[in-house]
Amino acid sequence: MKVFILCAIFSLAWARQFSYEGYKVWLVTPRSESQGILLKQWEDNESVDFWESISRKGKSSRIMVAPDTQIHFENFLKEHNILHELIIENVERVFERERQEKAENEMRLLRMESQGQSRFSDFNHFWSFSEINRYLTHLTIQYGDICHTETLGFSGEGRAMRALKIGSFDGSKPVVFFEAALHAREWIAPMTAVYLIEQLVVNYNSHRELQDIDIIIIPVTNPDGYEYSHQFQRLWRKTRSVNANSTCIGVDGNRNFAHEWRLSTNPCSETYGGVAPFTEREASIVRDVFDRYDNQIKLYVALHSYGQYFLYPWGYDFVKVDNWEDHEIVGRRFADAVHKVNGTSYTIGNAAIELYIGFGYSDDYSAFRGVDISTTIELPGGGSYGFDIPASRIQSVVKETWMGLEEMLHYVAEVHGNK
Ligand code: ARG
Ligand code: ZN
Repeated sequence: MKVFILCAIFSLAWARQFSYEGYKVWLVTPRSESQGILLKQWEDNESVDFWESISRKGKSSRIMVAPDTQIHFENFLKEHNILHELIIENVERVFERERQEKAENEMRLLRMESQGQSRFSDFNHFWSFSEINRYLTHLTIQYGDICHTETLGFSGEGRAMRALKIGSFDGSKPVVFFEAALHAREWIAPMTAVYLIEQLVVNYNSHRELQDIDIIIIPVTNPDGYEYSHQFQRLWRKTRSVNANSTCIGVDGNRNFAHEWRLSTNPCSETYGGVAPFTEREASIVRDVFDRYDNQIKLYVALHSYGQYFLYPWGYDFVKVDNWEDHEIVGRRFADAVHKVNGTSYTIGNAAIELYIGFGYSDDYSAFRGVDISTTIELPGGGSYGFDIPASRIQSVVKETWMGLEEMLHYVAEVHGNK
């Protein structure tokens, strides 16, 4: 019976999944800015997938390459003398392991349930969109005096985009805005958002700073892509909208914001910004939050993965946002608090200077709208294990990250709260 259920779960997870058979991942280290620029020219190539943004400062990045382009890509690396190392021989094996880990955990949860225990709040697997929604509903029923959920609008495919809100939202307090999984495949981001929600709601009374601020959290900003990455194609990143005159689906939500947006030419690119800013419902719903709370918002945090960065504007030019020193202070507080837990270290810096220039980012838009602190946090990734960390490490990452996020809330309460 046990074996049967395991097989059933396993084959369900297998069904119609895109296969990464033969795909390889290289760890690539550009040792000069020109090597980085050369590497970036592969970004629009559909057979090449940047798991991490290329660093201008010599940090290594993982790059996945489809079988048809591997010889060409490796020759390019050798020709330009770019430091590289093959770290994953076959990506499909990695995702098989990830699905198996999920199936085994599902068995454990079923056993627990049969013993009358609740399966809510299991941080040993990556939650589906419906699991996250069920949890939000559960919390609002159990803790209706502390939090409530609100549907902000609907995704391109009509999924409800829900936010969890903690606080009175009567206009008297600073608002803090967290948002995760605008990029679908970055599964550790919504897990971090859900853990943040749990800590704030369940332990509400031990967080004094919560009396001075209002918090809005969208745990899944791109639900269509998120579902697609769970059910059909693990590494799906963009939205699921249809592009005119192209068979390629989707727009990069984090290139679709209206500050310094640029028209990009290739709808098949993973960083395609769409035909205009805010064509994507997912991005325009984030904009609506800025419209609605406007200058009340003191902190915006976009949760992404991966690379272990605390990034601040501007991303469109090598110019730091006016109050970049405040961003450095908040980044330090975040990074120090995280580091204390397991020794995880973050790079804090301006997005364009640490990575490369790009256009239409949500953090740039947030800073443009006058939000005091605007940041993108690139959470830890899987390295040679896979795109995300193994599910068995979710707990440790969400816990350490929570310590950093809490520190950022303290900052807002100290600087903007009622004194
Ligand atoms: N990996 C993120 C992306 O490509 C980085 C965004 C950071 N922000 C920035 N303005 N560059 O969307
Ligand atoms: Zn991302």
